[in-house]
Amino acid sequence: MDITNKLKRIKIPTHLALILDGNGRWAKKKNLNRTDGHSKGFETLINICKTIRKIGIKYLTVYAFSTENWNRPKKEVDFLLDLFEKGIDRLENEYKDDDVKLIISGELDRFSQNIQNKINRFVANSFNKSGFVLNLCLNYGGRAEIVRAVNKIINEKLEYVDEKKFSKYLYTADLPDPDFVIRTSGEQRLSNFLPWQTIYSELYFPKVFWPAFNDSCLLKALKVYSKRDRRFGRVKK
Ligand code: FPP
Repeated sequence: MDITNKLKRIKIPTHLALILDGNGRWAKKKNLNRTDGHSKGFETLINICKTIRKIGIKYLTVYAFSTENWNRPKKEVDFLLDLFEKGIDRLENEYKDDDVKLIISGELDRFSQNIQNKINRFVANSFNKSGFVLNLCLNYGGRAEIVRAVNKIINEKLEYVDEKKFSKYLYTADLPDPDFVIRTSGEQRLSNFLPWQTIYSELYFPKVFWPAFNDSCLLKALKVYSKRDRRFGRVKK
């Protein structure tokens, strides 16, 4: 399906945020290992990124690994770490000639030096790019992000910050707030994802498991988003 032909009357969010959920359940339904679900989930991410860029979404935030995800069985965590390592290489290769900037939300110090080096290289090499911004949340927790910002402010001995200034201490300092958050698999919660940034985001919880999320799921989601009446606390004119 060429989604671009179907975009009449569809509003395109400036910043889309994705919570990739349902990899394990997708795999179980197909009698596969949970890790197969993660592998397929990564392929789905690569494909959907292509469409997201094509239709002109400028910022994409992806919740790939939370601070809580370390509590999964070691075998699964190890698999995910390996997938991140290969995945970063793949993304860097895919985007090397494109105007794509990578930023990271989360504390990288818990990852192996090898993963950190790969990520830091990609972030540094894409620093001056701006066409499409991919924000990967890795070892990310929303409350931890806020506490980290507070500690930075204390360290700088500031006496007063307003909301705008505070935002500059978050990982997302240079990003607008997400307009639209999609969490797949039918779970209806945000699970420590961008608590500061999502206060006025539109939320959408399709039942589809992440590995099965395709262009038509995205189109359906964008149709839902287009019908939302975003008032930001104001009265409709
Ligand atoms: C949630 O599904 C998914 C994850 C914890 C991992 C998602 C990560 C990827 C697809 C790889 C991304 C890679 C890069 C390089 C960005 P789940 O396991 O919680 O599913 P379940 O709720 O059905 O068990």
